Amino acid sequence: MLKRLRDLGNTVIVVEHDEEIIRAADHLIDMGPLAGEFGGEVIYQGPPSGITVERPENSLTLQYLDGGRHRYVRELRPWQYSIKIEGAREHNLKDIDVTIPLGVLTVVTGVSGSGKSSLVGDILYPAMKRKLEEAGDLPGVFRGLGGNLDRITRVEYVDQNPIGRSSRSNAVTYLKAYDPIRDLLAQQQYAKINGFGPNYFSFNTEGGRCPECQGEGTVKIEMQFMADVTMVCDECGGKRFKPDVLEVRYRGKNIDDILNMSVRQAAEFFAEGTEPEARLVVERLQPLLDVGLGYIRLGQSSSTLSGGESQRIKLAWFLSQSRSGKKGDRILFIFDEPTTGLHFYDVEKLLQSFDALLAAGHSLVVVEHNPDVIRNADWIIDLGPDAGDKGGEIVFQGTPQQLRDADTFTAKYVTPR
Ligand SMILES: Nc1ncnc2c1ncn2[C@@H]1O[C@H](COP(=O)(O)OP(=O)(O)OP(=O)(O)O)[C@@H](O)[C@H]1O
Ligand SMILES: [Mg+2]
Ligand SMILES: [Zn+2]
Repeated sequence: MLKRLRDLGNTVIVVEHDEEIIRAADHLIDMGPLAGEFGGEVIYQGPPSGITVERPENSLTLQYLDGGRHRYVRELRPWQYSIKIEGAREHNLKDIDVTIPLGVLTVVTGVSGSGKSSLVGDILYPAMKRKLEEAGDLPGVFRGLGGNLDRITRVEYVDQNPIGRSSRSNAVTYLKAYDPIRDLLAQQQYAKINGFGPNYFSFNTEGGRCPECQGEGTVKIEMQFMADVTMVCDECGGKRFKPDVLEVRYRGKNIDDILNMSVRQAAEFFAEGTEPEARLVVERLQPLLDVGLGYIRLGQSSSTLSGGESQRIKLAWFLSQSRSGKKGDRILFIFDEPTTGLHFYDVEKLLQSFDALLAAGHSLVVVEHNPDVIRNADWIIDLGPDAGDKGGEIVFQGTPQQLRDADTFTAKYVTPR
């Protein structure tokens, strides 16, 4: 379709991570080298074949395209327990029985419209939620839920919705790394003299935050007949706090400086601190680094994060939870297309994060089209053969190795690890 658009005389510009589309381009523009403040440069431009000739040394895209960088390969995990859904008939599902192994990475595949979300989002999640918590939405049509249900203590659907409703929420408040930062500032001499407690460094309570913008740093101006305009707050100049509060410095940095640090910069900065709170900040930021979000700024409003970024912040939260771990908590995590918007490099990090969750005893069910994720599954449930009424059946269940001999669309595109 894209080539046809071009051949009709149009100019087509595509932002894409998909390998096939990258290779099929007439002209490639590779941005990087990394993300956020570590990106923003053109690393290569020219025909895709030229990138392997010119070999820009800092192009991650090149490293994956020419196979020089080994993609992440997981060990196949064995499994013993499973849950079973019988007689699933929601939307186009054709009265299917599905086995979902526990403690491993299960990937649900199939062409767009084959019934993946119907199975996982409309049946598995609400049915499990009702079983475990006796609450939640009514699941779609199915006959029964069985198997080793007692092996799961909780179910979590990790979607791409924003992490907070308020524009004052951000990754750091979500991961509770902001609390020890406020404590550290409140311990400083200047804060003590003026009686600024930890609450003075919060956006959510009055006291220290800018009264004009209520700690948002920006104000929205409603325009008649036009979209609202967001402007930097006059009062604080976007610094979000009162001048007095900004005088408080921890090792030379005030709250505004800290909120403008990237996660990686902040992790390095607080690692040099000796206080227990500083260590706590580093500990709570670490999961963000693990899921590849080291480039976002501490103060970046959750409303500006992409769907994929929001999803990875939630993943980071679960990573931190399973680390500080209530023992014996065995969560079934469900993700619907978590690689949306991710580069090969980010996909690798995502797979590593998945392994950390499995190592903590949890189970993963992931709906995915990405070949790297499918190849690294412990178990594949392939729906099809096609979309809509022509889909809704299980055309394959098994390991990536076994998929090789199957006659399905997925099998044609995915080579086993
Ligand atoms: N609420 C609904 N009412 C009626 N039909 C629906 C509804 N939701 C989905 N469908 C149909 O059921 C079929 C399966 O949809 P589903 O969303 O499960 O596909 P999918 O495999 O998740 O696709 P994708 O990869 O595009 O997300 C599709 O033909 C779709 O049009
Ligand atoms: Mg879907
Ligand atoms: Zn202000």
